[in-house]
Amino acid sequence: MSATPRLVTTRSELADALTARRQAGERVGFVPTMGALHEGHASLMTRAREEVGSGPLVVSVFVNPLQFGPGEDLDRYPRTLDADLEICAGQGVDLVFAPAVEEVYPTWPPVVTVDPGPLGSVLDGASRPGHFAGVLTVVAKLFGLVRPDVAVFGQKDYQQLVLIRRMAADLCLGVDVIGAETVREPDGLALSSRNRYLDDEQRLHAQALSRTLRAAAEAASYGVAAALDAARAELRASQGVDLDYLELRRPDLSPLAEDVPSGTQARALIAARVGTTRLIDNLSLTIGRP
Ligand code: PAF
Repeated sequence: MSATPRLVTTRSELADALTARRQAGERVGFVPTMGALHEGHASLMTRAREEVGSGPLVVSVFVNPLQFGPGEDLDRYPRTLDADLEICAGQGVDLVFAPAVEEVYPTWPPVVTVDPGPLGSVLDGASRPGHFAGVLTVVAKLFGLVRPDVAVFGQKDYQQLVLIRRMAADLCLGVDVIGAETVREPDGLALSSRNRYLDDEQRLHAQALSRTLRAAAEAASYGVAAALDAARAELRASQGVDLDYLELRRPDLSPLAEDVPSGTQARALIAARVGTTRLIDNLSLTIGRP
């Protein structure tokens, strides 16, 4: 195993640890997380390392209260810092930034926040009002503190990725935002920190999400309507899954018409509750003949 990364908890420690290396011209890589790290996060770190070479790689571990709504799982969200540090060590991370809430939000609630615009209130944003304002606000703050050249996010949280890319471009944040492929269990289940809430039976039921997306992708050569029909049929045949949404959209998440030309790229997105756990997943697909 590689050396344990340095753990810093304050803004000034973080700045001190990075200043000299930034001045030496090294590129700073960044993977923001809420901890409870798994192989999916490890793959984001691998990707960030590829981008910055021997430059400093920073991982933040911060359960951001601003992105949780009332009645969501803020209190029970898994906090596993020791295990997280081990995963970071295995990926050659230099610095883990694990601040307290007051370090990130000296005044609570924050007065100035980032408005995600219309894309913040569809799909996940429709079920979780204020969620994406919370995500964008903390990511903007973390970008301001870490000042990375490149930041890597998982495609599993696809709407989050699209919004962060948009924020970085629209607010000229000067950071290259990269989306890394979703890592899946052999049975297709997308890795997620929330999978640990599932019991054995729910774990089996949760496979329906990726099966539904694959059904859409396989039928997409017959068009948008066929893809949606196949996905809905797969869901009807599945047990223990309470659907929130199932949609096909363009890769930038704008609406997708039914009669798009063959070869159009799209994204199938799903959210559903399995027991009390809300899971999301998505898959890229091509409409019509590839
Ligand atoms: O994807 C996550 O873990 C969080 O939404 C993020 C980007 C770290 C912001 O809190």
